[in-house]
Amino acid sequence: KKLCYGKMFDMQTVTLIPGDGIGPEISTAVMRIFEAAKAPIQWEERNVTAIKGPGGKWMIPPDAKESMDRNKIGLKGPLKTPIAAGHPSMNLLLRKTFDLYANVRPCVSIEGYQTPYTDVNLVTIRENTEGEYSGIEHLIVDGVVQSIKLITEQASQRIAEYAFEYAKNNQRASVTAVHKANIMRMSDGLFLRKCREAAEKHKDVKFTEMYLDTVCLNMVQDPTQFDVLVMPNLYGDILSDLCAGLIGGLGVTPSGNIGANGVAIFESVHGTAPDIAGKDMANPTALLLSAVMMLRHMGLRDHAKKVETACFDTIRDKKVLTKDLGGNSKCSEFTEAICQRVRDMD
Ligand SMILES: NC(=O)c1ccc[n+]([C@@H]2O[C@H](COP(=O)([O-])OP(=O)(O)OC[C@H]3O[C@@H](n4cnc5c(N)ncnc54)[C@H](O)[C@@H]3O)[C@@H](O)[C@H]2O)c1
Repeated sequence: KKLCYGKMFDMQTVTLIPGDGIGPEISTAVMRIFEAAKAPIQWEERNVTAIKGPGGKWMIPPDAKESMDRNKIGLKGPLKTPIAAGHPSMNLLLRKTFDLYANVRPCVSIEGYQTPYTDVNLVTIRENTEGEYSGIEHLIVDGVVQSIKLITEQASQRIAEYAFEYAKNNQRASVTAVHKANIMRMSDGLFLRKCREAAEKHKDVKFTEMYLDTVCLNMVQDPTQFDVLVMPNLYGDILSDLCAGLIGGLGVTPSGNIGANGVAIFESVHGTAPDIAGKDMANPTALLLSAVMMLRHMGLRDHAKKVETACFDTIRDKKVLTKDLGGNSKCSEFTEAICQRVRDMD
């Protein structure tokens, strides 16, 4: 147990995958800030470089899998995808291993970090296991290939249900299903039908449906009209990056992956930044805000608020910022500024 702010909290163990490149630096930053915030979290560090299992199948190391199976919650830094190493993308392997079916990205404008948009406050929820990324492709005859977009009732229902549950648990007013059921009548039609059925069950959340192209048009004209958006895999891949761009890019956007059996892995979505790795120049904001999402997911709302406020206040204040945010401070100095604000809140 840990005594924080006059209350006793059970310590919870989280699997930490620091990752490659700047991963260890930004993970250290998060651990220092959590320590300052007295978050009742203990970390279990694991490496997830793929290994070849029996039968030659690529897998994540058993001790990492065992740790995730036991702890259920993970925080992950960026992983490099070596082009010629022969193994599949580790991110893909993690997604498959833990059936991480929902990718959730809250995109909220950061005061003090100027972008062409203000007051963006939306969440993209992307189906993460099938659709256009089923990986089923064939050569029909020379010069003709076919790629299959797989949509199932089970996966569509699961993501639709999750979107409404998320909206309710996070005080969100509406869910918009993003689709092209006018063209892909059967596949997107099934996805949309499952969203409508979930909407019937959650009448307290407003439901709308919109074509993907209309969403894109309206998004760049006025993103403030959107709340929670739920969509199949490919649309989600593109739209979630577009929305991250509205608030300043992948360096400041948190992300969470929700899986089967209570597993959830929170991660920064930027890469390993090899050009600045080991130079104490990385911006830890994306991983930190992902860790804040994780705290909320674990029900630690007070700790989440405290860390988030300290991070946003530091950015708004503009005195201590990493280079990518327009300043010239080091990662460790930015981290210390956030820690100081967290301590000052006590
Ligand atoms: N989620 C992931 O694990 C993930 C995502 C994308 C790329 N990657 C991998 O990362 C490696 C490098 O990819 P890339 O160069 O295309 O993309 P990248 O995101 O690593 O870098 C792009 C640019 O953004 C900067 N940048 C990224 N994150 C930053 C941060 N937190 N603070 C400050 N600057 C930051 C980098 O310095 C670089 O200039 C590749 O091996 C790729 O496969 C992993």
